[in-house]
Amino acid sequence: MAIFVVQPSPPLIGEIEIGSSKNAVLPLIAASLLTGETMRIDRPPALSDVEMLCQVVESCGGRVWKEQDQLCIEAAELVSPTVEDAMRRMRASVLVMGPLLARTGRARVALPGGCAIGQRPIDLHLKGMSALGAQVTLHQGAVELSGTLRGAVVYLDTPSVGATENVMMAATLAKGATRIENAAKEPEIIDLANCLTMMGAHISGAGSSTIVVDGVEALQGTHYLPITDRIEAGTMACAAAITGGNLLLRGARADHLRALLFKLHESGVEVMDYPGGLRIRGRVHEPMEIRTMAYPGFPTDLQAPMMVLACTTPGTSVFMETVFENRYMHAGELRRMGANIRVEDRMAVVEGATALEGARVQCTDLRAGAALLLAGLAAHGETVVEDLPGHIDRGYEHVETKLRNVGALIERVEHPNASV
Ligand code: UD1
Repeated sequence: MAIFVVQPSPPLIGEIEIGSSKNAVLPLIAASLLTGETMRIDRPPALSDVEMLCQVVESCGGRVWKEQDQLCIEAAELVSPTVEDAMRRMRASVLVMGPLLARTGRARVALPGGCAIGQRPIDLHLKGMSALGAQVTLHQGAVELSGTLRGAVVYLDTPSVGATENVMMAATLAKGATRIENAAKEPEIIDLANCLTMMGAHISGAGSSTIVVDGVEALQGTHYLPITDRIEAGTMACAAAITGGNLLLRGARADHLRALLFKLHESGVEVMDYPGGLRIRGRVHEPMEIRTMAYPGFPTDLQAPMMVLACTTPGTSVFMETVFENRYMHAGELRRMGANIRVEDRMAVVEGATALEGARVQCTDLRAGAALLLAGLAAHGETVVEDLPGHIDRGYEHVETKLRNVGALIERVEHPNASV
């Protein structure tokens, strides 16, 4: 829960160390429930989403502790296979459903309500578990799942990241082979498959649209270093381009960010790919056309930061959001800063190069919050970004410190003592 005060900032210059990927680490934490042995995750990011999922693991009977720069989890015995309350607070807690069901034969999850960026149902997760043989019943607003899992063909109507991860985890301990068709291809899926393989699972095809999992009797603990966060890296790349800066993003991987880097390059930004990271230099000169899609398409999580770039670039930019149905809430806040953005259903049209003016704006979700911080760097006057729900800390570790170290003028004022 914080308030960020952002002043117009000079071009950002220097190096930013990109942390471990939130979206890779969350399924790894859930996967730790698949074994009674110790799981060690190296370099866990300091994020509230990670802390919250660790609490869910503890509520299921797991033990969680830190050793130097390692997050250690041991779920020798699972006592309470329920994630009902946690689901109401955090959608990613649905990821423990597959592991709980596979290991204990039982799980109970709440049906999530509509969330800020769209409906985000879990029907594909449930269809997957049902195809694997689970009985799925609705009881007092929660879904109860039970049964012994058997391999099956699971077709996902849409390549859902979470559903692919959940089914893949559940299938590791199912009897026989499972084929997931129309699977998500995100780098985080490959990372999870790599970790599960080190735990003893038999998985092939991760990163393609067909994943095959041959079930095994049991999995063992392992020690795993997750991939770096492509969305944090992409957000920082946008920050460099918005200020016309020169940033080396240490640990950022070009192979995970092709769609963004192509768009930045096309719009006039210099992108250099080094073995240890990426350098982003210069400004955007050309308007852009962005269509968000499942990987390897343009990531929906970078649509909001990219829209801030479009606001600062001459010409008309067009955005098409195809993944989530309500992901333009930052547009309203950017308009309060003087941006010229017209939203119609899934399309947003940005007339760029209108001077942004500092204002008091509200974070509506995680990536929208990051976009508002970036807008503050480029605006005239002071911008106050109110993040009372703590969205930004869910997905960006020490964001103000990382930005300040490269020249941004940004302060965090903790709430409730904040009196800005
Ligand atoms: C993950 C990421 C999130 C990212 C999103 C899309 C994590 C923790 N979060 O979220 O940052 O924005 O992928 O890249 O990894 N859907 C259904 N039924 C389902 C599941 C999903 O209709 O059962 C729909 C969703 O409403 C959405 C689309 O499928 O429209 C994609 O969602 P999904 O890939 O599942 O996103 P998450 O895994 O929740």
